[in-house]
Amino acid sequence: PPGAHVPALVIGTGYGGSVAALRLAQAGIDVHMLEMGMAWDTPGSDGKIFANTTAPDQRSYWLRTRTKQPLSNFLGFPIDKDIPRYTGILDAEEFGGIAVYQGRGVGGGSLVNGGMAVTPRRERFGAILPTVNADEMYNVYYPRANAGLGVTNVDQAWWNSVACYQYARVGRKHAERSGFSFVFVPNVYDWEYMKQEVAGTVPKSAVAGELLYGNNAGKKTLQKTYLAQAKATGRVAISALHRVTSVAPANGRYAIAVEQLDTTGTVVATKNVTADKVFFAAGSVGTSKLLTKLKATGVLPGLNNEIGKGWGDNGNVMCGRANHLWDPTGAVQASIPTAGIDNWDAGGAFAEVAPLPTGIETYASFYLSITRNPHRAQFSWNSAANRVELNWQTAWKQPSIDMAKSIFDKINAKEGTIYRTDLFGVYKIWGDHLTYHPLGGAVLGKATDNHGRLHGYSGLYVIDGALIPGNTSVNPFVTITALAERNIDRIIAADF
Ligand code: FDA
Repeated sequence: PPGAHVPALVIGTGYGGSVAALRLAQAGIDVHMLEMGMAWDTPGSDGKIFANTTAPDQRSYWLRTRTKQPLSNFLGFPIDKDIPRYTGILDAEEFGGIAVYQGRGVGGGSLVNGGMAVTPRRERFGAILPTVNADEMYNVYYPRANAGLGVTNVDQAWWNSVACYQYARVGRKHAERSGFSFVFVPNVYDWEYMKQEVAGTVPKSAVAGELLYGNNAGKKTLQKTYLAQAKATGRVAISALHRVTSVAPANGRYAIAVEQLDTTGTVVATKNVTADKVFFAAGSVGTSKLLTKLKATGVLPGLNNEIGKGWGDNGNVMCGRANHLWDPTGAVQASIPTAGIDNWDAGGAFAEVAPLPTGIETYASFYLSITRNPHRAQFSWNSAANRVELNWQTAWKQPSIDMAKSIFDKINAKEGTIYRTDLFGVYKIWGDHLTYHPLGGAVLGKATDNHGRLHGYSGLYVIDGALIPGNTSVNPFVTITALAERNIDRIIAADF
């Protein structure tokens, strides 16, 4: 309620926020979480909570009147379509040189992501978070995060036998014939459920293409893991459709300004609450935007000059390859990715063998590469336009393209195949206009101390992907979760 006071306020309900809420609550501290997206707990008129990837509707996009599908074209034809403006689940947030895809709703990115739950190779950790004790991470916090998230491995014998992973087996064959290391990747999907989907004994979800706009059954999102546990403590309250606009010091506490939204995105109420401690967990972009604005507008002038810096795209770049007719990838493709091609050390790229669940045979292999892109962008406040901007340039994807080519040029040469040119436009090979993996903007050990305490203010913390300086060498959410577990452990012990 307006005017209320809470000991701990968490902005955002993604990985960092959910870890913070659960561990604080278990330590006996009452927590209130504010989430700008919807609760995603009520079915629509079709009886389902989430829309299918192949049929986006108003539930699919955050306040857009036209879809902005990551693969915008097919066989040369644009596939985006008009939809009603609604507080939908996927935000394609456009900055000058890049569209940043993010989940919106209780559960954050866990609602829309592929569930790939990858712990980086130990020897690469020093380059990811140089100031963090790797022994502690690999002995305690990565295992804790994997357990909390419900991470498991696919049954490889089953994987080898089912039609819905034909596309991934083609990916393996091509990778191995070119001498690349093909690695299975753990996931948070319930594999027993998927086996039943294939057997036809439960409603189909991953096997019916559900993912990008939410998954109605087998995926263990944060709603089913950390947030369910957090709610069960009785100490965590969550307000959906509540967007934080300000956090200001007030008599030894913090005053938080909040806008309540309706499902068209209209502000229907503004509220003020106070908190002793505030955790910024609005995601790399959300947290960076808030902090950049609050520093520049004099609300939190004591934040240091590292705010807004060190932002990267995890080197994301997408591409497709056209296979020969004897290498069909399958009309039915499980939307849950299971594997990748690891050429990080030699070529700077880790490529996820991604599904293309169109419902028809496309003879396409599709990949999302994570690359060692060196570019880092910065958020800044544009007072005339009253908004935060990001100075990323589309041309900065070129190193990512070159690194991805270290894999796919070789495979194409070996297989006698070519790149698809019809998925991202007309005659455009590379999906270089977007990222799924925003990281950084309030980097650990720079904008904050080595545990996420913001410099300049006691009781303000960053606990999400904003802490990570731009790249994790693999898909990021396990690292975000493990780092949050590490930081909240210390914060609870020392600050409460
Ligand atoms: P996260 O973005 O999860 O949560 C932040 C929350 O804060 C959001 O719910 C947001 O609405 C809310 N918020 C923002 N501003 C606010 C404000 N002012 N007030 C209130 N609330 C606010 N990663 C991976 O490891 N494996 C994978 O397979 C994939 N696949 C994938 C696919 C797609 C399509 C996307 C978009 C992303 C992925 N990811 C992924 C990335 C992964 O989902 C991402 O790294 C994490 O969700 C980031 O976690 P955070 O806790 O940092 O923020």
